[in-house]
Amino acid sequence: MVQHVHLIAAARPNFMKVAPLWRALAAAPDFEPVLVHTGQHYDANMSDAFFKDLGLPEPKHHLGVGSGSHAEQTGGVMIAYEKVALSNRPDWLIVVGDVNSTAACAQVGTKLGIPVVHLEAGLRSRDRAMPEELNRLVTDVLSDVLWTPSTDADENLRAEGIADTRITRVGNIMIDSFELVRPAIETAGVPEAFGLPRGGYGVVTLHRPSNVDEPAQLLRLVDVLIEAQRRLPLVFPVHPRTAKRLGAGLFESRLLRAGVRLVEPLPYVRFMSLVTGAAAAITDSGGIQEETTYLGIPCLTLRENTERPVTISEGSNRLTAPETLLLDLEKALTAPRAVRRPALWDGKTAGRCVEDLRRRSGPVRLPMSPRDPRELGRLHATDRRVSGRSSYRRSS
Ligand code: UD1
Repeated sequence: MVQHVHLIAAARPNFMKVAPLWRALAAAPDFEPVLVHTGQHYDANMSDAFFKDLGLPEPKHHLGVGSGSHAEQTGGVMIAYEKVALSNRPDWLIVVGDVNSTAACAQVGTKLGIPVVHLEAGLRSRDRAMPEELNRLVTDVLSDVLWTPSTDADENLRAEGIADTRITRVGNIMIDSFELVRPAIETAGVPEAFGLPRGGYGVVTLHRPSNVDEPAQLLRLVDVLIEAQRRLPLVFPVHPRTAKRLGAGLFESRLLRAGVRLVEPLPYVRFMSLVTGAAAAITDSGGIQEETTYLGIPCLTLRENTERPVTISEGSNRLTAPETLLLDLEKALTAPRAVRRPALWDGKTAGRCVEDLRRRSGPVRLPMSPRDPRELGRLHATDRRVSGRSSYRRSS
């Protein structure tokens, strides 16, 4: 019997997690994927361009929720998705990543008794000031099946009292996307179009509220980027959140005067073409920490912590701050390069996801629900005890 699977796509970082899974499910005779776009990201260059690059079809359902406060966005997605789930009840609901729409749809699915799967489960920054960390916690505690990218994620979930039967390590699906469109990335020639020599420039992205919403922090970052530009030409595709903040001050004109190339957000293939030719990335994104690890490109992450510690322990990532960025950049540019890849970051994650779903759907269903009530009790007991484990904090 064919099982219907709702796949939720919402914001830019979701699209490259959904695309390989959509393809793998569409190719499987026993599953039928149904794409639901919540509309959290809606601009042509934040959404449509990614669908085109990644070969995603037009979503079957478009919720058109758009921007708003966290409550407006989360509530809007819940109200709209509940209607879809009630009229087109799926056998499975798959949510990805850590955006507001992820937590919103996980809540709707759980309350309607639809089995929920979380792809990219178990990541923890231990920083509850990040909206994404709250979304991760909510989504993981509610989901029936937790698909993790790395062993630290498994450990985090186990330490929170989640039963092993609910966890499957599938690897990093972002790498599947990269491998799917690698030929297009390799021929896109974006560094050349910018007139930049391969290996002779840096890519910058910044959009975390902690970096761009507060003018004093943004000023510190603008100053240090201007300094860094003297060492290495920088290309900075600017996220809409950041564009608003840069435009509001004199920041934008200062960066431009210093020679930093400020450009619109780039579609996936063009962006990855830029990254593959870079000497280093300077970022606060989650996905870029992973992609640079896969490519062996030094990544300097302007954050106090990361929910992706494996990119530091087994990859090319390093946490930094405005005060240490120039020194860290110098070290990154002069150190010998080595590509180290965590296990199962191999481009075959989507296949493992489909296999796991099949195993859990078969005649001998793997136990998922009802959840053991002791699990919830243990969750609260262990939460404090494990605080600080399996995430990285910047050393001062
Ligand atoms: C969201 C996610 C974050 C993810 C990021 C990637 C949450 C809490 N945050 O943050 O995890 O890393 O997306 O981009 O879900 N905007 C546009 N056009 C768009 C989308 C947004 O102009 O297509 C504007 C909005 O009006 C808003 C700002 O950008 O003012 C921020 O958008 P929002 O979706 O709230 O959060 P992000 O910062 O993008």
